[in-house]
Amino acid sequence: MSQRISLTRYLVEQQRVDGHIPSQLRLLIEVVARACKGISQAVNKGALGGVLGSAGSENVQGEMQKKLDIIANEVLVEANEWGGHLAGMASEEMDGIYVVPNRYPQGEYLLLFDPLDGSSNIDVNVTIGTIFSVLKKPEGPGVSEQDFLQPGNRQVAAGYCLYGPQTTLVLTVGDGVAMFTLDREQGSFVLVQEHMRIPEDTREFAINMSNMRHWAAPVVRYVQECLAGQDGPRGKDFNMRWIASMVADVHRILTRGGIFLYPWDKREPDKPGKLRLMYEANPMGWLVEQAGGAATNGKQRILDVQPAKLHERVSVILGSRNEVERVTGYHPTV
Ligand code: AHG
Ligand code: MN
Ligand code: MN
Repeated sequence: MSQRISLTRYLVEQQRVDGHIPSQLRLLIEVVARACKGISQAVNKGALGGVLGSAGSENVQGEMQKKLDIIANEVLVEANEWGGHLAGMASEEMDGIYVVPNRYPQGEYLLLFDPLDGSSNIDVNVTIGTIFSVLKKPEGPGVSEQDFLQPGNRQVAAGYCLYGPQTTLVLTVGDGVAMFTLDREQGSFVLVQEHMRIPEDTREFAINMSNMRHWAAPVVRYVQECLAGQDGPRGKDFNMRWIASMVADVHRILTRGGIFLYPWDKREPDKPGKLRLMYEANPMGWLVEQAGGAATNGKQRILDVQPAKLHERVSVILGSRNEVERVTGYHPTV
């Protein structure tokens, strides 16, 4: 790219194209990006910043919280609460919704996030990230949890920031997927790729194979067919990757294709899956669709799932379109 385009300029230009992003939404995305820069700094300092290790507490989902889970959550809340662009926030690390305090003006958007995705990788210096989703608050006074319970097809912006060898922000506002890399000297995100595309076919799958004995039959069938390679029904060899940070696995898929599965399994049969619908599957599902891929729970499009609660879980199959359609087709239709 001959001319450097900053995130700010990209958003201004998106705003000009049929007034596509209102100014409040532009501000919101800029504030989220700024917060991610702060999180990136903390991640980079690691042990020197005293940010590694457990916080000694549990979140509402019964998971042990790492110090960085809490730090990242605080950075996002503090950055976003005063700007006047938001009515409320919801996070993996907060039990209920966070209503913008009434000392600040109330905006018309709702921000949902997984402040730190891939927590088990923090202490081993492996790529982690922040995932976010933006919804419009329905008309009416006040903010309630009900206002957040909208299907993913109502998102107005979604993205993630990856803290890896580079810090990279990937974003959609419904006009394709754009990728920005943080230039630390300049302190700004710079556009490095517009209109990311996921190839429709792939030879690479991502799933936690250690759970194979717990999966349902359609997922076992799909993976066994991949493992059979050249001599099996697929007639080609497959490669496997599993980073255990959804954000990093999805980034690889957006970059070079692949399929990612975190399916329902028998360990906790009453839970639809491990990953959370509203701040993991929905934003990632929309990004993947915007890049030409597909995202389902085995039965329906993830973005059409009507959430019943904030921390709802969902089975996730996403990535290269033809592979996602194949696994989804292996599931019974009733
Ligand atoms: P989080 O760190 O936000 O709780 O999410 C971790 C998720 C996801 O990022 C990843 O794909 C998955 O957990 C890994 O799970 P396993 O350890 O079961 O493989
Ligand atoms: Mn997560
Ligand atoms: Mn998390």
